[in-house]
Amino acid sequence: MTKLWNKSGWRERPQIQMPEYPNQDKLNSVTRHLSQCPPLVFGGEVRSLREQLAEVCEGKRFLLQGGDCAESFQEYSADSIRDTFRIILQMAVVLTYATKSPIVKIGRIAGQFAKPRSSAFEKNNGIELPSYRGDIINDIAFNQEARVPNPDRMIQAYSQSAATLNLLRAFSQGGFADIKRVHAWTLEFTEKEESDRYHYLAGRITDALEFMEAAGVSANKIEALKRVDFFVSHEALLLEYEEALSRVDSITGSVIAGSGHFVWIGDRTRQPDGAHVEFCRGIENPVGIKCGPSMEPDELKVLLQKLNPDNIPGRITLIVRFGKGRVFEYLPKLITAVKEEGAKVIWSCDPMHGNTEKASNGYKTRRFENILAEVKQFFAVHREEGTIPGGVHFEMTGTDVTECTGGLSAVSDDTLGDRYHTVCDPRLNSSQSLELAFEVSEEIAIRAAQT
Ligand code: PEP
Ligand code: CO
Repeated sequence: MTKLWNKSGWRERPQIQMPEYPNQDKLNSVTRHLSQCPPLVFGGEVRSLREQLAEVCEGKRFLLQGGDCAESFQEYSADSIRDTFRIILQMAVVLTYATKSPIVKIGRIAGQFAKPRSSAFEKNNGIELPSYRGDIINDIAFNQEARVPNPDRMIQAYSQSAATLNLLRAFSQGGFADIKRVHAWTLEFTEKEESDRYHYLAGRITDALEFMEAAGVSANKIEALKRVDFFVSHEALLLEYEEALSRVDSITGSVIAGSGHFVWIGDRTRQPDGAHVEFCRGIENPVGIKCGPSMEPDELKVLLQKLNPDNIPGRITLIVRFGKGRVFEYLPKLITAVKEEGAKVIWSCDPMHGNTEKASNGYKTRRFENILAEVKQFFAVHREEGTIPGGVHFEMTGTDVTECTGGLSAVSDDTLGDRYHTVCDPRLNSSQSLELAFEVSEEIAIRAAQT
């Protein structure tokens, strides 16, 4: 890449959605410390993800990206990491079966701590305080002191990410993800209908493995059946943290964001001349761009030029999030812009962020039916345009939370309070996630039947 870039260049650009730290000395000492810590991911892994994503671009693989809206220091446990990993594995099995192609699995995990907010202030009982911006920045408790941005939180986020990634690497490589355990991944909370559908599919996979054994091909000898590649991602929002963890790759000499394999630029921070685009244009990692209704086709063209001047496949994922009913209006013009540029991108559908609403009792929620409708509209537009619907992006968790309503699990407005644990946006629970995976499979099957 021929570009003049350095990891601090973003500091000269307009910065939005970033905290103002009251104590610069403390901030500097934290970032100095982080810049001496080992990176969380390595160049070889990042390039391997990019290669897999290049195949998503060509329709040879499908992308599944999902996890928390925001990770939290409080909700951190080995069980919750395992549950998220397990539901992603289950969804991937369902999707592999439908697509007959490998699934690229990326968690919103091990670094997803910083949140953009629609409003800089939050009001509660007549008291106004600065908004909570994610555990890496300030504390969710509703008092003045808690809301002051504290750089030490970056160190806690880094160490939680490191330990999370360590466990994820163990799960993905150490036997947990062995396809022979496909039945054992079933979650206790899965709804009966989802559970039956999943077990039926797991049974067919087991049959296929037994057939292979009988025919003299031992599944134990096939590494690809015993391990999975699992990657981690987050929004590159807190640029002091991203800069401190960026590293020059010793093999290629290019710069890698060492904070995660894949990073994305949020819908609120994707100004072509802004700080976030400036930072991301110089790193080698695959980059996502969130595209909401305000994304103009010309703006998208500028972003693609800046972020992927060499048109490398797998480098850019466009994560579209318009909201149910708005896909037909907004997606085709972005597809046209991409076609005009001849740009190689992955189209991924985030049916979460355009479908957030307030329930009658005040809970922030999303309806399963709206999420599903947006997914179906995304596939329908790609069918019309002859383009590839490459992936899906969900906010979800492997446990039985009650944050989104509907689906077979029938969470209703009245039961939202039962297990509403998210610190930011409402997530699909395990059974809603699995149900959605089956629905996505059906969309893929329709597509396969037509091509
Ligand atoms: C998110 O993914 O949590 C998010 C804030 O998304 P967006 O930038 O699309 O609003
Ligand atoms: Co969110």
